[in-house]
Amino acid sequence: MIETMRWENGKLILLDQTKLPLTTEFITCEDYRRVRVAIKILEVRGAPAIGAAAAFAMVLAGKEASNRPDFVGALDKMRADLITARPTAVNLEWAANKLFNLAKKLNEQDMRPREIVSELEKLAVKIYDEDIKKNKAMGKFGAEILPDEAIVLTHCNAGALATCGYGTALGVIRAAKECGKLKMVYSDETRPLLQGARLTAYELCEDDIPVTCITDGMAAWTMKKKGINCVVVGADRIASNGDTANKIGTYGVALAARAHNIPFYIAAPVSTFDFSLASGEEIPIEERKGEEIKKFRSEITAPTKALTFNPSFDVTPHELIAGIITEYGVVRAPYIDNIKKLQELAKEE
Ligand code: MRU
Repeated sequence: MIETMRWENGKLILLDQTKLPLTTEFITCEDYRRVRVAIKILEVRGAPAIGAAAAFAMVLAGKEASNRPDFVGALDKMRADLITARPTAVNLEWAANKLFNLAKKLNEQDMRPREIVSELEKLAVKIYDEDIKKNKAMGKFGAEILPDEAIVLTHCNAGALATCGYGTALGVIRAAKECGKLKMVYSDETRPLLQGARLTAYELCEDDIPVTCITDGMAAWTMKKKGINCVVVGADRIASNGDTANKIGTYGVALAARAHNIPFYIAAPVSTFDFSLASGEEIPIEERKGEEIKKFRSEITAPTKALTFNPSFDVTPHELIAGIITEYGVVRAPYIDNIKKLQELAKEE
């Protein structure tokens, strides 16, 4: 399985996803600021992977803060800086806040900063390990609801590369393959940064899972012509009513799936739910530089004078979602009630 990141001798080693599929290079992060840059420029990306990287960044921040007179105050400033790297994926603040809250609690119990940092390290490693376990659980629940001879369309990359391993949407696809249910995966290219073509197709090919690349504009026609019988995608933030933010283009895929009577599923862990938001209207949507649309790497692909609009995510309304596959099971409508139940279940852990 592809390794997105590893924690080695107090350093975070990240696979540089901007170079895939042509080159496999790793980045060594010894400072939380380097992790912040990696998140910002998408060297590490995908909501759960961003969350795990942020957890390790907080360990690095903790080490730095342990040399400051106000340990908690200094750590809080670094936490606040870290979570501005990307606004939509809620896993970033979920993980950073989790580590900060632990540090604050232990500090109130008079534990010394150095010992607190070692507790932070244990928690970051736990977040990493549990992510893979959650993905496997999601895979099992998801594979059960996929049709036999599944022909699945997916968008962006919600795979091993977007998580600590196995993947959310691609975890469901992997599990369907393991139980002999998978016929074909259609992977949207995912403009403008090609996560579908560069990353999803790459990791499925590595695992000998049949994958066909299409451009984003081909999704509706492919549904009509190629017997797609379900759509599974990941998520960056899910509101309390089930409205889901995911990579730009997901909303269009959901509309096309509805028009063709194809079930559209989200696969995401509980850490991707933002229970504080009533609906998708409140989800912050990252807007990136227009250059990403007018250029691919150094190649100019549009007139420099042209204006751009480059939202990185869109929100799919819950009415278009057949189910949200989580590590606890599949959540279905009525979403407000069932997401409340999920929150209660997750609280018990
Ligand atoms: O901009 P990216 O590549 O971070 O966007 C990633 C996605 O939209 C994924 O679908 C989402 O984070 C889920 S990853 C399991």
